[in-house]
Amino acid sequence: MTTAAEAKKRVQQLRDEINHHNYLYYVEDAPEIPDSEYDRLLRELQALEQEYPDLITTDSPTQRVGAAPLKAFAEVKHKVPMLSLNNAFDEQEVSDFDRRICEKLERKEITYAAEPKLDGLAISLLYEDGVLVRGATRGDGSSGEDVTQNVRTIETIPLKLHGKGFPQTLEVRGEVIMTKSGFNKLNETQRAKGEKTFANPRNAAAGSLRQLDSNITATRPLEFYSYGVGQVTGGKLASRHSDILKQLRDWGLRLNPELKVVKGVKGCLEYYQNILNKREQLNYDIDGVVYKVDGLAEQDVMGFVSRAPRWAIAHKFPAQEEMTTLLAIDVQVGRTGALTPVARLEPVFVGGVTVTNATLHNQDEIDRKDVRVGDTVIVRRAGDVIPEVVSVVTSKRKKGARKFKMPAHCPVCGSEVLRLDDEAAARCTGGLFCEAQRKEAIKHFAARKAMDIDGLGDKLVEQLVDEGLIHDAADLFTLKKDDVAGLERMADKSAQNLIDALDKSRSTTLDRFIFSLGIRQVGETTARTLAQHFGSFDALMKSKEDELINVSDVGPIVAESICHFFHEKHNRDVINKLLKAGISWPDIEVTPKSKQTLAEKTFVITGTLSSMGRDEAKAKLIALGAKVTGSVSKKTDYVVVGENPGSKATKAEQLGVEILDEDKLLALMK
Ligand code: IVH
Repeated sequence: MTTAAEAKKRVQQLRDEINHHNYLYYVEDAPEIPDSEYDRLLRELQALEQEYPDLITTDSPTQRVGAAPLKAFAEVKHKVPMLSLNNAFDEQEVSDFDRRICEKLERKEITYAAEPKLDGLAISLLYEDGVLVRGATRGDGSSGEDVTQNVRTIETIPLKLHGKGFPQTLEVRGEVIMTKSGFNKLNETQRAKGEKTFANPRNAAAGSLRQLDSNITATRPLEFYSYGVGQVTGGKLASRHSDILKQLRDWGLRLNPELKVVKGVKGCLEYYQNILNKREQLNYDIDGVVYKVDGLAEQDVMGFVSRAPRWAIAHKFPAQEEMTTLLAIDVQVGRTGALTPVARLEPVFVGGVTVTNATLHNQDEIDRKDVRVGDTVIVRRAGDVIPEVVSVVTSKRKKGARKFKMPAHCPVCGSEVLRLDDEAAARCTGGLFCEAQRKEAIKHFAARKAMDIDGLGDKLVEQLVDEGLIHDAADLFTLKKDDVAGLERMADKSAQNLIDALDKSRSTTLDRFIFSLGIRQVGETTARTLAQHFGSFDALMKSKEDELINVSDVGPIVAESICHFFHEKHNRDVINKLLKAGISWPDIEVTPKSKQTLAEKTFVITGTLSSMGRDEAKAKLIALGAKVTGSVSKKTDYVVVGENPGSKATKAEQLGVEILDEDKLLALMK
């Protein structure tokens, strides 16, 4: 039996302990205890609070969820206005900004705090004596909405500040964002429930924070990053912006890991480039970077123009979403016969390039987004990802906008189009009878990661097939220089180059050859695993499904696909022709199981290695039984870090995954 006094003491202990672990987990990114232990502490606290409800306080870590839904949000007046930022769209505008500051402050070089510009929504958090008493949206900058119940559900927002020395009143400002992975998952669940999906993480974050029922907000993957302060009374903060942020961090508020102090325009622009390069790898959307004069005294001298400070600027990245008109929907046939509807667009500059085509994925997606020909649509191009139509601006829909229906027959070969129950894609049933599928198969065969036939690009493959010079990949090796020289945009020299490249490609490796065949479900990695497992092409071709399933990473679907491929006579014919044409590879030594010293170990490689290429390292690791994947997770055993590593190295540190330099890797491979 616990007495009330004992319970009170234990409750306090538990809260302190839980808050401490929250700090380690969310701020330091360095948890000390396993999740199970954390849950145990939380459950113990919950049980005690249930038994002694008088002990419950609003800042208890158990009190994040469960508040009754509101009827409306109350208005909050911001004592210190929440400002906006001026934008710079190019280097010139950044250097103009810097020049104005240098002139006014009579300095040669300015120190700036550089931060990512997070694409979420601005939030103000008010702490009184270290306890979170109010959360508010920015609104128009002078007044916003009281969303206290909702921000309380965000785990990265402390209900109680950590440590000591914080001012009596401290208003923290920052951005609430939804992670990209959280956003994708949320949309999947919404779709599965037949509920509305969100166009992007920002809208999803905004929609989630504006829920009257905080129990809904609690289910949404929201996170908070602090980037400044508002009202501060009863205490003094540091005199540089970057130092204030460090204080916030000590008090339990999470900072963005990419924050940096830089010097002059040069430092700003280097930072911009560095973050732009990382943009796709970050798990949250950013639309630029922000430069802030680091010294507060200097900020004061600079002052404001209307609603924006003269001491800060947002240097924007090229927009990733733009609006344009959908002119038509065409259907493309891929290597595996999948029919992809492609949007033909009024050209639009987005993500740094002019886009005229965008994928619409499949019929279900078109129906879900209700995309019609003639619509005004939002197009997204992020990084190197294929541009896609994200949504329709329905309010701009004109009369006569036409719905789209997938054709019943292949637009290329006329064969029937089938859609299997469990597949999103409709497929042409023509197989290699279908010219589109043949062309795609040959393009794949010639690709850099497959047979690597230099100079044999997509356009040339299409011409060769259109002119009837080749029918399948094996015919490539029967081409004569004169056949090729007669083609459009081909001269004697380029024709000879192609013949030479074809010759050179004859000596290859087994894994490249397997990959080049374009077997469904067999990507580069699987091809490598298969080569290593079977050691010879003959053995692979003769293998049965039950043997294939035993190969690591090959499941029943992949196994079936491989058997199916070799079962087709026309595939075997092409393979025989290829082998007769002289394609060959060095023998593979299959490492016996007993020598597979890295069996079951998962590796990620980042950065440049000096003694071997990344592909070579990958192949060696696989030969030793290891798995090599592209992203770091808790399941990763080792991250190999070479020169100029990417964000994977940081991720590994955060997760506590063992990091190997090149020497250690070589030692492991011995
Ligand atoms: S500072 C006076 N820092 O951008 C400074 N804002 O256009 C005002 N934002 O409403 C804000 N990341 O929602 C600042 N690192 C960052 C930011 C950031 C995103 C947003 C914020 C604000 C808007 C200003």
